[in-house]
Amino acid sequence: MSPAALWGQTPQNRNDGGPTTSTVEDRNRRMQWWHEARFGMFIHFGLYSVLGRHEWAMEQEGIPVVEYQLLAQQFNPKPHAARAWAKLAKTAGMKYMVMTTKHHEGFCLFNTKLTSYCAPKQAAGRDLVAEYVEAARSEGMRFGFYYSLMDWHHPDGALCAHDEAARRRFVDYIHGQVRELCSNYGKVDVLWYDVNWPLTPEGWESEKMNRMVRQLQPDILINNRSGIPEDFTTPEQHIQAFSTPWESCMTMNDSWGYQRADDDWKSSKTIVRNLITCTRDQGNYLLNIGPKADGSIPQPSIEILTMVGQWMDGHADLIHRADPCQVKRSEFANFTRQRNTLYIHAYFWPGETLAIGGLQQKVLAAKMYNTGQPVKFVQEEFRVQFTGLPAAAPDPIATVIAAECDGEPTQDQMAIRIHRERESV
Ligand code: GLC
Repeated sequence: MSPAALWGQTPQNRNDGGPTTSTVEDRNRRMQWWHEARFGMFIHFGLYSVLGRHEWAMEQEGIPVVEYQLLAQQFNPKPHAARAWAKLAKTAGMKYMVMTTKHHEGFCLFNTKLTSYCAPKQAAGRDLVAEYVEAARSEGMRFGFYYSLMDWHHPDGALCAHDEAARRRFVDYIHGQVRELCSNYGKVDVLWYDVNWPLTPEGWESEKMNRMVRQLQPDILINNRSGIPEDFTTPEQHIQAFSTPWESCMTMNDSWGYQRADDDWKSSKTIVRNLITCTRDQGNYLLNIGPKADGSIPQPSIEILTMVGQWMDGHADLIHRADPCQVKRSEFANFTRQRNTLYIHAYFWPGETLAIGGLQQKVLAAKMYNTGQPVKFVQEEFRVQFTGLPAAAPDPIATVIAAECDGEPTQDQMAIRIHRERESV
């Protein structure tokens, strides 16, 4: 039997997104909200939040399972802590959330029939995923479930690599939990798998698993970490554009889970600028918080995301409704586009005159995006200068000038070099 027949699809209706999706058109339809959303909140929450030493502490400190699992008797977040997360996400201008339902440590935040190592059957005594879902919905947020395939707690989690009976038990467990997550919480928007060690996609039976997911949740978006491309790619801790849908996930400091000693916070400027870069190249930005064991959000995350939200208040439309932007070259600004309008996001304010090189189109009109105040400009063959600007940066994070052009704005840096050669002879 050919692989396509195995997947129940003919070569014609398969797409490059992987074997369990239907058509490109269907994927575009399912993903429309996600592209517009652009900016989401990642939440890493689990027993590692009690330790406060990074979510890999169990592995990296060599903590035995019997010792680590005692943390489940201490982990009892304050009721409905997730409401504050959803409110902060909304304040920051985010449109969706993705929470760890089970991280590598194996502890489940949801109610599962398949293990007692889960929040409802331990100290918390309640389903933390249900609280998260309720919180996200009440703030109008789309939501997703992060689920780690790798499991340091399950007795077959490593054995499965070289013992077929263990693999069978473990894969049944994993598929069973994914089924629970896709059955017990109503409509789920995103399934965000992580680390598929130690099996291959065939070993995980990822195709079968994802077909089941799509039967239960027809509109769900699935990431690429079950080893199949599916709907989107997930560059981690850096921004990298792909020709297929992508989402860059990133920490605000250097840890995903709560790490009390990590004070290496990114500034609100850096975060907004990263979001602008993702927007320019049509990707999403999934930015993480690592709540403390009681569910409270570390104060620096609150402050930084609140400042991000202040910038988003004035600029959300530029982020959520953007076309791909080919203009990229500048050391002091970045760019986004809507149809024929180029938005120049000035990071390092140059003073009264701001110039960009190599713009191929004629500028018809320019204005300060926030105030609507017209901006004068002079355009030469390879340079456009915006003049009469305030001496000091009106917005310390990024001041935006809107330049309406006579066609889709594009930039040609090579042309400038050729021009210079002409000038020099
Ligand atoms: C890595 C890490 C993990 C984190 C994830 C987020 O896979 O192992 O701790 O959850 O990245 O993308």
